[in-house]
Amino acid sequence: MNEIISKINSSKNLEELDKIRVSLFGKKGLITQEFSKLKDMPNDEKKEFANNLNRKKDELNSAISIKKNELELIDLQNKMKAESIDVTLFNEERSIGALHPVMITMDKIIEYFLSQNFSIENGPLIEDDFHNFEALNLPKYHPARDMQDTFYTDDKRLLRTHTSPVQIRTMEASKPPIRMICPGAVFRRDFDLTHTPMFHQIEGLVVEEGDKVSFANLKYTLENFLKYMFGDVKVRFRPSFFPFTEPSTEVDISCIFCKGSGCRVCSHTGWLEVLGSGVVDPNVFRQVGYKNVSGYAFGLGVERFAMLLHCIGDLRSLFEGDLRLLEQFK
Ligand code: DAH
Repeated sequence: MNEIISKINSSKNLEELDKIRVSLFGKKGLITQEFSKLKDMPNDEKKEFANNLNRKKDELNSAISIKKNELELIDLQNKMKAESIDVTLFNEERSIGALHPVMITMDKIIEYFLSQNFSIENGPLIEDDFHNFEALNLPKYHPARDMQDTFYTDDKRLLRTHTSPVQIRTMEASKPPIRMICPGAVFRRDFDLTHTPMFHQIEGLVVEEGDKVSFANLKYTLENFLKYMFGDVKVRFRPSFFPFTEPSTEVDISCIFCKGSGCRVCSHTGWLEVLGSGVVDPNVFRQVGYKNVSGYAFGLGVERFAMLLHCIGDLRSLFEGDLRLLEQFK
């Protein structure tokens, strides 16, 4: 009996304990077999035998049930330990935001012009006809207005189609010398592989009294700027037309992908167009009441720069918010 009790007490888990229970009380169990002896026993012995056996049965049952409780408690404790959460522990991977590639490019451009002593100016996104067109030598019904598909809010106001109106606002608000850039969003009714209804430009304007500023200054500044942005590239000034500059040029760099030998990105020309610029048209100075001054201006699309610098093929992908693209810029 003692041996069985100590076996019960030393069982290590519920399964082991249950095996012992079956070996005692199962169909062929020790105690069950003892009870079956009763029927063949003479009556006078039966009572004592049964009493004895019942006592053993109770003793064993209670030993089993005590051990069972003990083992169940241990089980529960182990389970709680395994499933517990330490709320003071914080090691989950946190996703950290990053600057958008357009903003990274914008910052890089701004940094350059700050280093060249340019100031940063701002203007409203909702412009009036005068600043967006008229003062920039684009009178009503001028065919060049067709170059820019405009969102009008009413007869007089519109979402600015370029950052050039900030040239006018800056000149209205101050006197030469002016040496400014204006980064910001612009809006046009356009949507395809290379156009989105909202994009970003950086405008530049330099004005000095007298005839100090010439095309040579423009060329020097832009050549150095483009080498800073794109490395060792050739820079080409191509005659063009903008109503607010005369002469006007579009500026190309030798293709950064094929080094000028011709590829798909440069349409096999070896050149990539990157900005517009020119010597400020006297009509523009007249509109703001400036006399006896000279200057140059330029404007560029930030997305175009970002796409070239990071080999992005579809402009629209910059505005889809796809984390797989954006996370590459962390
Ligand atoms: N505003 C022009 C555009 O959106 C870009 C531009 C060209 C700006 C020549 C200038 C400039 O300041 O001189 O297409």
